Amino acid sequence: MFERLELITADSILSLMTAFRADPDPRKVDLGVGVYRDDHGETPIPAAVRKAESVLLARQTTKTYVGPAGNPGFNQEIASLVLGAEHEARVANRVRTIQCPGGCGALRLGAELIRYASPASVVHVSDPTWVNHVPLLSGSGLRLERYPYYDPASGGVRFAEMVAAFERLPPRAIVLLHASCHNPTGADLSPGEWRELLALVKRRQLLPFIDMAYQGLGESLEDDAYGLRLFSAELPELLFAVSCSKNFGLYRERTGALGVVCDTPAQADAAMSQLVRLARGLWSMPPDHGAAIVHGVLTDPELRAQWIAELDAMRQRVQGLRREAVRHLAEHCPGRDFGFIARQHGMFSLFGIGTAQVHELRSRHHIYMVDDGRMNVAGLRRENLEYFARSVGEVLAARAGGRG
Ligand code: LMR
Repeated sequence: MFERLELITADSILSLMTAFRADPDPRKVDLGVGVYRDDHGETPIPAAVRKAESVLLARQTTKTYVGPAGNPGFNQEIASLVLGAEHEARVANRVRTIQCPGGCGALRLGAELIRYASPASVVHVSDPTWVNHVPLLSGSGLRLERYPYYDPASGGVRFAEMVAAFERLPPRAIVLLHASCHNPTGADLSPGEWRELLALVKRRQLLPFIDMAYQGLGESLEDDAYGLRLFSAELPELLFAVSCSKNFGLYRERTGALGVVCDTPAQADAAMSQLVRLARGLWSMPPDHGAAIVHGVLTDPELRAQWIAELDAMRQRVQGLRREAVRHLAEHCPGRDFGFIARQHGMFSLFGIGTAQVHELRSRHHIYMVDDGRMNVAGLRRENLEYFARSVGEVLAARAGGRG
C-alpha cells in the first residue's frame, strides 16, 4: 500500500526551519517560523512560566488522566483571560471552553464541530491566511474559500472589499477572522471596523470563527481581544481558538483551547458534549503540562503580574524593532516605502518583495523569510538590523539594475 505514497516537502514554514538550522553561516538571520525571539536570538521561557512550572513539578502527585475536556481550571481561566472575567456571555452561561493540543487542535476541533452540525458549510478565510489554516480546517472535510483582505499597496486591510464579499455570503457561512496580529500580514481590523463588521455579520447571520493566537503581542491583552469580546457579547453563536504558544512561550507543550459561544446555556451544554465526543475521537485527552502551568500563572496574583510585565516587554521589543527596521530600510532602500511595517501589529509583516528576491536574500545573505515574503519581525536583533537592511537594499538594487 505505502509504495504508492509520493515523497513531498514540508510546508513553506516548516521547510524554512530545516533550511535555517542547516545553514552554518554565522550571519544568518531567522525571520521564518513565528516564534518570539529576544535580543540574543533565543526564544525564552518567561520567568513567571518557569516558576509556575517548578511549583507544578514540586506539587504534582499523579499523572493520571485528566479527561477529554482537559484541565477545568485552565478552561475557566483561559476563557476569563480571553473574554474578560465579567463578560456578559460568560455571565449568561453561554460559553464553554475545551482544552486542546495548541491553537491547531482548537482550529481542527472547531472545524469538526461545524462539519458535524452542518456538513455543507463553507469556511471563508482571509486572502492571505496562515498556511496551516488550510489543512487544519479542510482536513475536517469542510470546503474553504477566500475573501479579500490584504492591500499590499497600503499595508492595511481592503476593508471595503472584505465587506462587499461578506455581503454576498449566504446565511450561516463561516468566516474565519484573526483576532489580532494577523498572520501573515500584520494588518489588523480597527475597533471601528470590528463594529461595522459586527452589524454585517448579524444582518447576514454569518458564523464567525475567531483565531486568537497572539493575545498581548499586538497592542495589549485587552485591546487584542476587542473584536472577539464584542462579537461574543453581541452574537448568538461563534467559535474561538486560543493558543498559549506565543504569549506564554509554551510552543512545544501544545497548549490551547477552543471556545464556543451559544445562544442558550442548554445549547452550550449540548455543544460541549459534542466537543468532548469529537476530542475523544481525535486525541482522546489533551496534554496537561502546559495547561497546568498556564493555570498556575493565571491564578497566582504575583506570577500573573510578572507574566503580564514580561509579555508587555516582548510586545514593546517587537514594536521597537518595527520602528527601527523602517528607519534602517529607509536608509538602504531609497525609493521604497517600508513605513507600513511600523503601522502593523504582532510578529509578522508581508515584506512585499518577490519570491526571487526572497530566495536571493536567503542564498546570498542568509536571511530567511517565507517564500511569500512573510517576515517574523521578532527574529531581527538590534545588532543585525543594519546587515538586514543593507542586504535588502542590495537585493532590490540588483533587481532594479536588471540582475536577479
Ligand atoms: C507560524 O506561523 O510561523 C507559527 O504559527 C508556527 C507554525 O506552526 O506555522
